[in-house]
Amino acid sequence: MERQKFTVTQPTEIRFGCGAIDDLAVAVHGLGGTKALLVVDPNLASVGLLDTIIAPLKGSSVEYVLFDHIDPEPGLLLADEGTEVARKAGCDCVIGAGGGSAMDVAKAISILLTNGGKAEDYLGLGKIAKPGVPKIMIPTTAGTGAEVTFTAVFINEKTKSKGGMNGDPLYPDLAILDPLLTLTLPPHVTAAPGIDAFTHALEAFVSTQAHVISDMYAMEAMELISDNLAKAYANGENVQARSAMLMGSLLAGKALATAGVGLVHAMAYPLGGMFNIPHGLANAVLLPFVVDYNIIGNPEKYARVAQIMGLNVADMPLREAAQMAVETIYQMNQDVAIPSNLEEIGITVDKIPEMAEIALTVTRPVENNPRKPSLEDVIKIYDVAFKGW
Ligand SMILES: [Fe+2]
Repeated sequence: MERQKFTVTQPTEIRFGCGAIDDLAVAVHGLGGTKALLVVDPNLASVGLLDTIIAPLKGSSVEYVLFDHIDPEPGLLLADEGTEVARKAGCDCVIGAGGGSAMDVAKAISILLTNGGKAEDYLGLGKIAKPGVPKIMIPTTAGTGAEVTFTAVFINEKTKSKGGMNGDPLYPDLAILDPLLTLTLPPHVTAAPGIDAFTHALEAFVSTQAHVISDMYAMEAMELISDNLAKAYANGENVQARSAMLMGSLLAGKALATAGVGLVHAMAYPLGGMFNIPHGLANAVLLPFVVDYNIIGNPEKYARVAQIMGLNVADMPLREAAQMAVETIYQMNQDVAIPSNLEEIGITVDKIPEMAEIALTVTRPVENNPRKPSLEDVIKIYDVAFKGW
C-alpha cells in the first residue's frame, strides 16, 4: 500500500434495478437533453427490446433519432457516420443501448459532436479536449462494463487493427442497468460476454495497478459472476441470476476502469483483428491458459480467486490453492460451453508467431500483467491454448 499511487474517477451516475428503464425520458431531461441519437444494436428490435427502450420516450417531450446499423466489431467510420446523422438531426444527447459495440459507438459520437474532426483523430490516450454531449448507456448484455468506462474500442478500417479512444470525456453521464432487459439474451450471448466480464475483474485484481478500491470492485464482481453465470446460462429468465450478472459486469467495469486489464486482453486482440473472433469469446477461450502462466506472479491473489469462486483452500499450500483457480475457471468455461481451445474457434497454428508479436504491442495490458511475458512466453501460451488441455 505505502508505495502506491492511484486515481479513481467515478463520474457516471448509476441507476440499477428491474424497471429502471421506465425513467429514461426523465433522465434525458435531467441531463438537459431534448433530442437524442439512439444508438442501438440492430438485434434489439427482433427480440422486442427496442420497443421497451423507446416506450418511455414516446409520450414524453424527448425526441429521438434511431441509428441502428451497428456491427459487432464497429469500425471508426461508423462513429463518423453516426455523428453526421446526429449533427444533421440536431441531436443534443446520445443514448447507447445494447452490447459494448453500441455503447462504444455512442460514447464516441458524444465527443465527436463537440470536439469535431474524425473518430480516427482520437485514438490513443488523452486526446479528447472537450466534454461530449450528455450520454446515457443502457447495457442489454452483462459483459463489457462499457457503461462505466472511459474507453471506446474500434477497428481501424484502413489498418485493420483494433484500437481504443481513451479519455475522461468518454465516461457516460448515466448508466441505466435494468436486469429485465437481459432476460432474452440467448445462452451463447450470456456465456462469452459473462466470462469477458469475469476476465475484467480478474485481470484488474491481479494487475500491477491494482489497489484497495479496485480490489473491492473486482472481488465482488468475481463472486457475483462465478456464482451466477451458469445459472443465467441454464435459465435466461432467472431474474436473480440476471441481476447478479449485470451488477457483476458493472463492478468489473469499475475495477478495470481504474486498474486496467492484462495479458488475456492483449492476447485476445489479434484473435479479433486477424480472425474476427468476437472480443468476449477470444478472452474466454484464452483465460484459463493465461491464468496458468500468470500464477507464479501473484500466487496470493490467485489463491484468493479460488476462495472467491467457492473453494475451500484454507488448508492448502499457497501454490496448490492458487492452482485451483485455473481448474475452477476452466470448469466455469466448460459449464457454459466455451470452446476449450483455439483450434475449435478457427485459429490456424501458422499465425501464432505473428499473433504473439501483435499481442505484445498492446502495451498497457502487457505492463499491467502480474508476470512479464517475453515473445517466447506468449508463443508458448498460444501453443498450449491451440490444442488445449
Ligand atoms: Fe473485455
